[in-house]
Amino acid sequence: MEVAEPESGIEGSMKHPDHDLDPSVQFLPASDEKKLEKRSLSLRTMLLIGLVVLASVTTLIVTLLVCNFHLRTGEKIRKVFSGSMTIASQRFTDSYEDSNSRQFKELASQVSKQMKDIYNNVPLLSRYYISSTIQAFSESSNDSVVAYYLSEFSVPESQLSAVDEAIRSTEQIGALRKSRRVNLEHKPTNTLLIYSMMSGAVDARFINSSLNSHYMESHHSHPGKTGIIQSPGFPDTPYFPNMYTEWQLRADPNHRVQLEFIAVDLEDDCRNDFIRVYDSLVPTESQVITEECGNITPNKKLVFLSSGNVMLVTLVTNEEKNFPGFRAQYSQVAAEIPGCGGKLTGMKGTFTSPGFSSHYPPQIQCVWDIEVSTGKQVMLNFSRFSMHEPGQSPKNCTKDYVEINSNRMCGSQPTNKVHVFESSKLTVKFFSDMSYVDEGFFAQFEAYDPHHFCPGRFQCDNRVCIDSKLQCDGYNDCEDMSDEKDCVCEEFYFRCKNGLCKPKHFFCDGVDDCGDNTDEENCGHCEAGQVDCRNGRCVSEQKKCDGHNDCGDGTDESECAKAIVLSCSEFTFKCKNEECISKQNPRCDGEKDCDDGSDEADCDCGTVPYKSSRIVGGEIAGEGEWPWQVSLHLKGEGHVCGASIISNSWIITAAHCIHETNRYSQAEQWEVYLGLHTQGESNTWTVQKSVKQIICHPAYNPVSFNHDIALMKLDSSVIFNQYIWPICLPSATRVLPVGQSVWISGWGKTREHGNLATVLHKAEVRIINDTVCHQLMGDDISPGMICAGLLTGGVDACQGDSGGPMSYMDPGSKRSFLVGVVSWGEGCGQREKPGIYTRVTKYRNWIREKTGHPLGS
Ligand code: ARG
Repeated sequence: MEVAEPESGIEGSMKHPDHDLDPSVQFLPASDEKKLEKRSLSLRTMLLIGLVVLASVTTLIVTLLVCNFHLRTGEKIRKVFSGSMTIASQRFTDSYEDSNSRQFKELASQVSKQMKDIYNNVPLLSRYYISSTIQAFSESSNDSVVAYYLSEFSVPESQLSAVDEAIRSTEQIGALRKSRRVNLEHKPTNTLLIYSMMSGAVDARFINSSLNSHYMESHHSHPGKTGIIQSPGFPDTPYFPNMYTEWQLRADPNHRVQLEFIAVDLEDDCRNDFIRVYDSLVPTESQVITEECGNITPNKKLVFLSSGNVMLVTLVTNEEKNFPGFRAQYSQVAAEIPGCGGKLTGMKGTFTSPGFSSHYPPQIQCVWDIEVSTGKQVMLNFSRFSMHEPGQSPKNCTKDYVEINSNRMCGSQPTNKVHVFESSKLTVKFFSDMSYVDEGFFAQFEAYDPHHFCPGRFQCDNRVCIDSKLQCDGYNDCEDMSDEKDCVCEEFYFRCKNGLCKPKHFFCDGVDDCGDNTDEENCGHCEAGQVDCRNGRCVSEQKKCDGHNDCGDGTDESECAKAIVLSCSEFTFKCKNEECISKQNPRCDGEKDCDDGSDEADCDCGTVPYKSSRIVGGEIAGEGEWPWQVSLHLKGEGHVCGASIISNSWIITAAHCIHETNRYSQAEQWEVYLGLHTQGESNTWTVQKSVKQIICHPAYNPVSFNHDIALMKLDSSVIFNQYIWPICLPSATRVLPVGQSVWISGWGKTREHGNLATVLHKAEVRIINDTVCHQLMGDDISPGMICAGLLTGGVDACQGDSGGPMSYMDPGSKRSFLVGVVSWGEGCGQREKPGIYTRVTKYRNWIREKTGHPLGS
């Protein structure tokens, strides 16, 4: 759903370090022996090691990652932290990069001992400390050694947060040591001078997998050369199931590691199989640079830079769905990134986020001072701007941001927007924090004459410059309406009374686009004071609801409290006793309109049984707000489509959801989640069902998406609760006026090129006139489809929402009716590209025939 813009323990045993290998741990043979040659220590110029480490060092990470992080032993929970520290007193030698070397082992044991001392200084930590293992060493820029470790604690549940806090305090111990240069050890010869200690929780994502094998390679990049890393067997054989694989990448001091993904072909659901890249040699959660999964097309350039001279690439896979994997190339680049800040002068110029068009590295700050000649002022435009990060709101930009004169920006920026400043000087700051990076920005600045700015563009009253083509186009591009004032309406536009120009297709579309309703006046052909009968006749308004069928088709009696009986037509509602009544939408409206009461029979649907009191922000749905919403999972693949509950054993979805490949059409491949709010988090009321039968609409056309509707029968009937409740089916004659607001919900992508949502989202869209929809979307629109959206763009369904409901809530009865099934669209949320839904009223009879659904005609 696109809206204008969101641990647990595993059973098992854990081994301690320095013990034998866990028998469940299987070290896989390298796919290509030559690639795994060992680094010759004398030959630093050679591409280093691809090495399968069988040393005890890996044992901890394996047992930890493989077995569990939060193993509950009695009341205690095992907790693992990872981190790094610089050892100032130690000179680096190449053998430290080989965990099999004697030197590595000696230093590792010394560091572990000293870590024990550090934790011993903190009573809380010493109480729960178990052990530490050193995972790797790297060479720091001042010739000293950086050690990467995993530390394990066994903590009573009540003390977990206190331990987290205490771990953070050890960073201060490290910092203190740095400033005072004191050794806490008594025997000076054995003491290491440790500083710059940093630690954090280990990536919780590894916990979920029942990983049973571990594979590790270590590479050192060589100046001017690139090396390749890839998932074992790539691309001919799929990666192994339930595996944790890591690639340690090192560069020379004063260099950065650059990693470019050449191919990524993983399962789509990042919760199952994922690549994570870290700005460290251990998987510290706070230092993750990126997470990738799915199939990434080569036109999306994926290049990453480390902040220091190390990087860790990890691949975690689960049991099912194993794909070819990935291939990436690594190299080293100088640590100093040219163009990160500085003074910019002249009439115009460009500057970019560091490393552009690579993703910018973590932990970097650049400051540009722009100054144009006196008498001129600066304007700035971003032709690219993408600084997204999980957990960052574009409102306060607390993570990665660009700051202009103390105004922060992050997320996306429109490319046609020009920022105009009333000064000849400007300071632009770029900041990236420790975790997650993005593409960054490409900016142009230009000097303008304050008396004449926006050259070649339209200047808004608020000093924003926009493309001249956007002037008088019916959309408020300036955001202060100044581009829509004083317009001469060109061809394809009509003029509202208030002077605004609006596209002709907004005319009589049921939405007051002008703001003064002039685009919705005189839409019928009858004179003022007359009723526009659906059959084309005009009758006096006074005849409305007088109990006589003056129009002859019941129009004048259709919106009245009392229904009259008349001859049946496509506009009338047929009661069970075969009588047809004039009232529009009488079904389940809470009033008995048919003599036999059949319009109010079986109306236990469409209401939200108990209103949830939870307050939800933004566009995230409330729990239980859409109790008919279903998540359809394809086994091993996770969420694929949405669906809606219509009875205790039937759900409705889109035909294209089950038509994709042969596998999708097999009932046993599906898992149905009812009462779900957050993917992966079941509540006590969440119910999972299997599918007994799939009925695809016989006329479904996978090319035109015509008749995109299907039924699924659950293997057993579901018991309704506050979070699981059916939606009402509309009668075949339900009228949905153009402009009517309806709601869509789903776990689909939140941006056209974004990821699936984990929490259920909702959005409000409006029914769009069929003629307008034809004009905008072409001849692909058939009578079985209904268009809805906002023509201005920004709010829409998207990939993953398919099959889910478009619900209309009748304001009188407060019941929701399933009026559409998410079907297709062009991109997501684009301007003048509404979403296309299956028009459920058209399939009412087919649904009733297949499911025996009791609801009236
Ligand atoms: N076909 C998509 C799916 O499989 C739904 C697309 C809806 N797109 C839109 N722009 N409304 O999930």
